[in-house]
Amino acid sequence: MSDPNQDYFAHHTSQPFAWKERKKARGTWRALFESFAYLPPFNRMFGKDSPSYAESYWYCMGGLTFLSFLLLILSGLVLTLFGPTWWQGTYVGYVTKSIHYWTAQSFFFFLFLHIIRVWLTGAYRGKRWLNYAIGFVAFFLSLGENLFGLLARGDWESQFVSMHSDDMLFTIPGLRLISPENFTSALIIHVALIPFVLLILIGVHVTLVKLQGIARPL
Ligand code: HEM
Repeated sequence: MSDPNQDYFAHHTSQPFAWKERKKARGTWRALFESFAYLPPFNRMFGKDSPSYAESYWYCMGGLTFLSFLLLILSGLVLTLFGPTWWQGTYVGYVTKSIHYWTAQSFFFFLFLHIIRVWLTGAYRGKRWLNYAIGFVAFFLSLGENLFGLLARGDWESQFVSMHSDDMLFTIPGLRLISPENFTSALIIHVALIPFVLLILIGVHVTLVKLQGIARPL
């Protein structure tokens, strides 16, 4: 009788897997795209079995969101270390600011694809509801982080937006505690408060995936 796990577990990537064999199993294009995973040093990074249904680019979207998040933290730390005069007045500062900005775009791009994948494969079923809820909160916090990032930039557009946000917030009772025009508070919320909570939430989210494994598609 054939191995019941055979359908669910893909090839162990740390084992040699010849091109011809791979081409036959995966088709030319897919085998070509996946080549890097079978060449050193990458093959050692992927030295674990994963379910065959997860061998799809759709299942990489959460990981790419996570990678973007790490790059955001790294570039954000450099920006915070050198301050607004540096990121608005020097070429290296501009480039670092651009890297931070474009990484934020890739974060949301991959996050949307990740959410679509989670919906389409019904990955929120059963005990994974908790991870769905954690992801949901992380998503809304990320939107807040995005807004405070714009307010903390400190250039003309940022000041314009903060002025208008201020006008809007002052019409809503209870929200007058925070003034978007207060640059220091926007900066603290953006560089310390929300990232700290996001780091914990995303850390728990990814750990839960490790513990629970990847859900089978519907
Ligand atoms: C905020 C940034 C987020 C990061 C960095 C992240 C990261 C990840 C990663 C790395 C995985 C492993 C599987 C995969 O990559 O597809 C995963 C799985 C999962 N994510 Fe996210 N995620 C985020 C947001 C969300 C959101 C907004 C939701 C839903 C509202 C969500 C729901 C889930 C669920 C239910 C799973 C389990 C999937 C399964 O077992 O197949 N995630 N996430």
